[in-house]
Amino acid sequence: MLIVLSMVLSACGGGSGSSKGSGKSNSKSGNGNTKLEIFSWWTAGGEANALKAFLKNFKKNNPNITVQNAAVAGGVGSNAKSVLATRMQANNPPSTFQVHGGAELFQWVKAGKMQPLDSLYKKNGWYKKFPQKVIDMNSMNGHVYGVPMDIHRGNVLWYNKAIFKKYNLTPPKTFQQFFSDAKTLKAKGVTPLALGDKNGIWGTMIFENILLAKLGPQKYSQLWKGKLPFDSPGVKASAQTFKKMLGYVNQDHSSLAWQDATQRVIDGKAAMNIMGDWAEGYFLSKGWKPNKQFGWTETPGTTNDFNIVNDSFGLPKGVKNPGAVKKFLTAVGSVKGEDIFNPIKGSIAPRLDAKQSKYNVYSQSALKDFKADSSNHTLALSLSNGSAAPQGFETKVDNAITAFETQKNVNQLIQQMKSASSLLKK
Ligand code: GAL
Repeated sequence: MLIVLSMVLSACGGGSGSSKGSGKSNSKSGNGNTKLEIFSWWTAGGEANALKAFLKNFKKNNPNITVQNAAVAGGVGSNAKSVLATRMQANNPPSTFQVHGGAELFQWVKAGKMQPLDSLYKKNGWYKKFPQKVIDMNSMNGHVYGVPMDIHRGNVLWYNKAIFKKYNLTPPKTFQQFFSDAKTLKAKGVTPLALGDKNGIWGTMIFENILLAKLGPQKYSQLWKGKLPFDSPGVKASAQTFKKMLGYVNQDHSSLAWQDATQRVIDGKAAMNIMGDWAEGYFLSKGWKPNKQFGWTETPGTTNDFNIVNDSFGLPKGVKNPGAVKKFLTAVGSVKGEDIFNPIKGSIAPRLDAKQSKYNVYSQSALKDFKADSSNHTLALSLSNGSAAPQGFETKVDNAITAFETQKNVNQLIQQMKSASSLLKK
């Protein structure tokens, strides 16, 4: 992640705002057709299937456009983001790329690398079709730069129903319940909580969910804006709880990817997994069904909150064929496109007029909670998934969390986050 950071920073520093794409990747293809290079990190289970289904439909409707699926493996963009930063710096952007709404998108806007999409929004009536909160996550200085393709929920605890039944356990809505379940499971020789954080991110995601529970959504948001000190009692208490939780995760977590951890739940080796609902897409891709093989609940203490993760696509400056990219973005923001993609991915459609009947029982519950929580102002931007704070800060927190997982030193974690917090003002 350090590599990503330095590349992003230098990309920002060198951002002249007048990038001229080399067009290497997004010019005409050999047969005279227009070529589009779609860049993402969707390569695992449901996310890969969802992208494939979406691209298939797009190709059917746009036979003159050749689409290249340029996905780079590595959850949360651990590899893709460095590749992207190098290309952006060299003014050789992909035709369009997956990006989280919020800070992650804004870094490219600030660097002068993105084109505004205001007229595309107007043309498609999107200002009325997407929730305001999601438009805000994709807007900067009064202009909109991203078309939201999905909304994921980040605060979900998934569990293996057969294991919970076997040991007569209750899905944990509180930390007390979580630790009581975890103790029983550990005694029975089952890993209570599966974790796979070889790219150093998913521990941060668990920690941010604990923070959300202990601080509540308002204070949680203040934290990432530099308005709540990191040595506040609630942050310390969260670190203590995280430390306790780490006593119940698989020891080999730092050598597993997120989907390996989800697979442990399927294999019955672990009982629970805290992960965004792309894990639901993974379960579905393995033939597991909601409320049959797997159950879910919000992560302990966050029943009334929605940790939002949003993937969007935008229009980089310097692409050779902006017209074709706009066609792609139009498909991304269409009801049809979103309803093909999201039910497979485990996410919900950002569009308010998506067809609910296309979504399964889990996704319908996420949709209901999203609607309620967005009107209650309890939406919480994800730090680990790029929205809440600049990449430089997030990288420092990820590194501090990785160290914490072995050293379990609460004071050190607090100090490291405190010293990183100067980056929040930037
Ligand atoms: C998240 C992203 C999701 C999913 C996940 C795992 O950051 O928003 O769409 O791809 O990473 O790769």
